[in-house]
Amino acid sequence: MHGTFLDYEEDATFAPDADTGLLVRTIELRGTNDDLFSAYVLKSRPGARPDGEWEGADQTFFLTFIEEGWVDIEIESLGHHRLIKGHLVHTQNGERHRMVACSEDMQSLNIVSTSIVIDQPKCATVQSYADADWGDGLRTHVLYRDFAHIEKATGGVIGGHHGKIIKEAPKDNSKEPVQRWHQHDWTAQLFYIFGGWAEFDFGDVGVNPFKKGVFMVLPNGMPHAEVQRQVGLETFEIVHPAQFGTAYVDEAELRERFNREA
Ligand SMILES: [Fe+2]
Repeated sequence: MHGTFLDYEEDATFAPDADTGLLVRTIELRGTNDDLFSAYVLKSRPGARPDGEWEGADQTFFLTFIEEGWVDIEIESLGHHRLIKGHLVHTQNGERHRMVACSEDMQSLNIVSTSIVIDQPKCATVQSYADADWGDGLRTHVLYRDFAHIEKATGGVIGGHHGKIIKEAPKDNSKEPVQRWHQHDWTAQLFYIFGGWAEFDFGDVGVNPFKKGVFMVLPNGMPHAEVQRQVGLETFEIVHPAQFGTAYVDEAELRERFNREA
């Protein structure tokens, strides 16, 4: 499995859409997640206008997360919504939606699947940053805004969270669990960085920075370990299925498997 880490220099790969003038940065996920998900970042600019076309009929899953500015969206079952920074919308099983208008400083992350099977009815949810429950999760140095409403709506097929690092790494030689080599047994996971900084070591590609605009696909069973982090790192994670296990990996085994030096 390749493509664990995709580093997008800010703005470098945005291209204008011919019809709307909106800037689109397609995240090339082909071959990295069994084609379960595709993703793109959408950005507005002066003079750009959404085309207002309905979409979603062929999507088993769609998610949009507003990073900057605002978007006016219409959803088949929920009507019009003004989405602002931090809002998260999801639709499933062909629920249609359309973008009616947006601010000139709008930026959104969009994740789509046309192949993941969700054995639940067509529906849509909207969650705002302000009314979300922030709480504990897998790691004690991270504050989580859990996407429990998506997990519930999809019957556990897709879940995720918005995470904020709130605690520095220990200054002594003790290692927190996240700093030890470990792996997760999900089928697919997408990890997007929209603020802050950290470094992770991946079994296959070595140490890479986490910085704004980085998108990472971590395949099932790929070992990784945190190297450094800063308080304030903000991440957006979508995982299939929503619940998964974590196992710690023996360092000697890891070195042998990836032909790495001690
Ligand atoms: Fe991990």
